[in-house]
Amino acid sequence: MANQTVTITDNATGKSIDCPVIDGVHGPSVIDCKKISSELGMFTFDPAFVTTASCESAITYIDGEQGILLHRGYPIAQLAEKSTYLEVCYLLLHGELPNKDQCKEFKHTVYQHTMLHEGLLRFFTGFRRDAHPMAMMLGVVGAMSGYYHDAMDVNNPEHRYLSAIRLIAKMPTIAAASYKYLLGHPHVYPCNELGFVENFLRMMFSVPAEDYKINKTAVRALEIMLILHADHEQNASTSTVRLAGSTLANPFGCIAAGIATLWGPAHGGANEAVIQTLQEIGHPKNIPSYIEKVKDKDSNIRLMGFGHRVYKNHDPRATIIREVCHELLKEMPQCKENSLLFDIALGLERIALEDEYFIERKLYPNVDFYSGIILKALDIPTNKFTVMFAVARTAGWVSQWLELMNDPSLRIGRPRQLYTGAAQRDFLPMETR
Ligand code: ACO
Repeated sequence: MANQTVTITDNATGKSIDCPVIDGVHGPSVIDCKKISSELGMFTFDPAFVTTASCESAITYIDGEQGILLHRGYPIAQLAEKSTYLEVCYLLLHGELPNKDQCKEFKHTVYQHTMLHEGLLRFFTGFRRDAHPMAMMLGVVGAMSGYYHDAMDVNNPEHRYLSAIRLIAKMPTIAAASYKYLLGHPHVYPCNELGFVENFLRMMFSVPAEDYKINKTAVRALEIMLILHADHEQNASTSTVRLAGSTLANPFGCIAAGIATLWGPAHGGANEAVIQTLQEIGHPKNIPSYIEKVKDKDSNIRLMGFGHRVYKNHDPRATIIREVCHELLKEMPQCKENSLLFDIALGLERIALEDEYFIERKLYPNVDFYSGIILKALDIPTNKFTVMFAVARTAGWVSQWLELMNDPSLRIGRPRQLYTGAAQRDFLPMETR
């Protein structure tokens, strides 16, 4: 609404200020509360950013009540059905879907950067064989800042774009290299003859001793899984990337910060935790007793893959990925354990959705509830699940970082606090403490 304001009054002093209301294209308007600090001498208090819009963005829109997710205006279901991951990367970066020539050129540009510097490859051998793949990815992406720092001027738009491309191109290579190191297999170099996802699977699973056959069902399932995880507006890892970026830090360092944040089980680590939960339940008959444990607050157990800060209706990505699970397990039924886990997941979903505890709190399955089953069916080890998420989310991180860096009003991000520590006091000499 044009010229709408919200009046905030400090009842103690009687002083009022009018804060402008700014409308977005979709979703709730925001109250521009900058004047609260300069004119009322107070800060707003919003732990965990539950009601705070931290930035302006034109990339992704989520309506958590309706279960809507749009990238640059396009519904996620249409992108998952009709697009490819690289096309979605282009869309997130450029704001429009590429035409045929742009698509070809973009693919060519990305493919120029799929290899890793040999020095970077040696980083993997410094890790323990049983190191978590997220630890390796975090370390190697952070180390990329040492390889491209001199040629990287964050004030130069061409340098920034090149960094974004390098990250999109190299993340699958890094993910595959961490897996190969874990297995003790030789590193598989990228093959630019193949599609982005085919190449990723080949780097993960091919060995020099055998021909590698690409399974089209697996390729499409992974493609959809990458598309569904490509961006999700100002989530914890993306906000971390933006905060780091606001200091004009090196982009590889910013993305490493995002990777560290994604690793947490409350965020991207949930897909790994979901599989552990399903394995712990073991059989559909054990679901009711597990649900009782989750509902018991003293147990401190959360049903992993359920609940979302923004989605208070279904997560549209979960609906899509659930279908992909069905198709994948129908066409690749070789692993009995995956079907059992899927049965347990379906049973868990059904019972949880009928339970008052979950209904009251608007807890629905999120994307991670099913993504782990897909990754498991693709033979990806459980501790690599979050790495796969990080590969996908790189598109969102770099697009959001570029948007931030292109914003002429960019300032360092600096939250404030409500201080609750000791009041000012004098230093105590040692003998009196
Ligand atoms: N299982 C059981 N109870 C839950 C769950 C869950 N998965 N999630 C939330 N609740 C309960 C809380 O205990 C709380 O109950 P109370 O009001 O009785 O205290 C209530 O629902 C609200 O929970 P909050 O923690 O305040 O919700 P918040 O928005 O802060 O957290 C989060 C969202 C972190 C995703 C949470 O739902 C969770 O921990 N889920 C499990 C982990 C998970 O699946 N994470 C992936 C998120 S999606 C992603 O990153 C791709």
